Amino acid sequence: MPANKKLLILPGDGIGPEVMREVRRVIEWMDRRRMVTFDVTEDLVGGASIDAKGAPITDSCMQAAKDADAILFGSVGGPKWDNIGFDKRPEIAILRLRKELDLFANLRPAIVFDPLVDASTLKADVVKGLDIMIVRESTGGIYFGEPRGVETLPNGEQRGFDTETYTTSEIQRVARVGFELARKRQGRLVSVEKANVMQSGLFWKQTVTALGAAEYPDVQLSHMYADNCAMQLVRNPRQFDVIVTSNIFGDLLSDLASMLTGSLGMLPSATLGAIQPSGKRHALYEPIHGSAPDIAGKGVANPLAQILSFAMLLRYSFGMDEDAALIEKACVNVLGSGLRTADIMGPGTARVGTGVMGESILRELEKLAA
Ligand code: IPM
Ligand code: MG
Repeated sequence: MPANKKLLILPGDGIGPEVMREVRRVIEWMDRRRMVTFDVTEDLVGGASIDAKGAPITDSCMQAAKDADAILFGSVGGPKWDNIGFDKRPEIAILRLRKELDLFANLRPAIVFDPLVDASTLKADVVKGLDIMIVRESTGGIYFGEPRGVETLPNGEQRGFDTETYTTSEIQRVARVGFELARKRQGRLVSVEKANVMQSGLFWKQTVTALGAAEYPDVQLSHMYADNCAMQLVRNPRQFDVIVTSNIFGDLLSDLASMLTGSLGMLPSATLGAIQPSGKRHALYEPIHGSAPDIAGKGVANPLAQILSFAMLLRYSFGMDEDAALIEKACVNVLGSGLRTADIMGPGTARVGTGVMGESILRELEKLAA
């Protein structure tokens, strides 16, 4: 029996706790059936932590995150905390985790599962078989750059500002993740920036170009402006294999790409740090949907993105590819059987809530593992 794997679960706010409950059931099932034992700890983050402990994430939770082999994150935020100070808002939890654990590479796949091809707002023949991977830089750029703030000008007017910054090494390390992934996939990488207007964008492009020529001549590298990329993603998304881009462009383009797949409720993500000398690599897994306060507590949220995030965790943090594939297959089969949460309803399908969707995944896992 393999050594216990330390897993930190942070459900957060809104639909986070509801969808995480379904993952807990998958974990319990694995404990029972597959002889893998996880050491699971759970803690509060986001608004839930603000309410109970006065901060979006506590130092003890940060420490638990550093000690964990992998972190499964839900979602944070909601209208209840909208008027809290900027430095205390729920989103600080995820930003602090990314920054302090140096989780610089956010992998956001956009895959169209066959049974869901009609759930996309795009025509089926445009998205059928889609499988792209967006690598978003996640500890740098304008979300963290200094200086930032709001100042009062001599004429009394105010001025708000943020700064986009990227160093050579910050660009190289995330680009390497993109190149490596492309190598394992179709061998094509598109680097996205705004080199036509941004100095930092031109620098990004030059740095990725030099790295590609020096270390990855076998990968077919091309470049695209971020605005054109947004357009190309809806025009002909299958032209892409792997996309690598900055924090802010990756944030935007991954939300956009998610809708190609039918619903934000379907997409998992992994955020990886550097491999340390000990061999350990910090990693956090989260659905790309937010806390969805409008449907929270109603039992209608789609748990699949959270469950698929757990599958990514098994694959990337624990090398448990077979188990990850089993969970993914269970999800596809359940969708194939016509069960749908409200966000992915289509003609001739049956609407179920969060719990029934979770149960159906468990039943399918039983069948597949039998
Ligand atoms: C995401 C979210 C976060 C981000 C928010 C919650 C800070 O939109 O993970 O894409 O902007 O990075
Ligand atoms: Mg986002």
